[in-house]
Amino acid sequence: MNLIKVKNYDGMSEKATKLIVNRIHAIENPVLGLATGSTPEGLYQRIIEKYKQEEVSFKNVTTFNLDEYVGLEQNDTNSYYYFMNDKLFRHVDIAMNCVHIPSGIAEDLEKECTAFERELGQAGGIDVQVLGIGGNGHIGFNEPGTSFSSRTHVVDLEKSTIQANARFFHSIEEVPIQAISMGIETIMSSKEILLLVSGEAKADAMEKLLLGEVSEDFPASILKKHEHVTIIADAAALSIA
Ligand code: GLP
Repeated sequence: MNLIKVKNYDGMSEKATKLIVNRIHAIENPVLGLATGSTPEGLYQRIIEKYKQEEVSFKNVTTFNLDEYVGLEQNDTNSYYYFMNDKLFRHVDIAMNCVHIPSGIAEDLEKECTAFERELGQAGGIDVQVLGIGGNGHIGFNEPGTSFSSRTHVVDLEKSTIQANARFFHSIEEVPIQAISMGIETIMSSKEILLLVSGEAKADAMEKLLLGEVSEDFPASILKKHEHVTIIADAAALSIA
């Protein structure tokens, strides 16, 4: 894993933007894996700026998102579809039929997972997957204990994840208890992975990732087995490691 240390959140977002824009330019029909959460917001804002300055275009870009809550409509402000549209897609020239986010309201969720994997395969796999990390080491919504050989699946969210994400909802009762998430093997089949980590709240997780063993108890640890991972982490996230 290639670790890039930066000062703070802005530094992380800046470096991540350079890397993503570079890949969009370098790859003919780039397939990006995208993440939600507070961590990649700065990256998306900067990408929009680059688009406005005509330094990047999404015309040939296809995207796949890591995850979606079960039970939330696309127009629910807490759905990840809404987040991605609001924070990135509606501001750039991406073709919306090239955007793939699992539907959390599909009648048959298992079928939705299979269809998502099929579309991913048809697109030729992910060139660069952007990842954040949960305090408990989750990637996507793959909670501790998830099999390393998992593909896109329905997951039960841990209490700690529900609590961490409750800040976006009116009350904790409103936070969905399930999600659809790319599996760990799905994430690992990306050609390149970019993990973004910022803030003191992630310091424990960073320590475990950098110094701990590879174990299903800490999902992000599998990234050590990937050939092309870049971690961009800020000083606060690295304060323990
Ligand atoms: C959620 C998402 C993850 C994200 C994590 C961290 O659980 N499903 O993809 O990485 O939260 O979020 P944040 O970046 O807000 O800390």
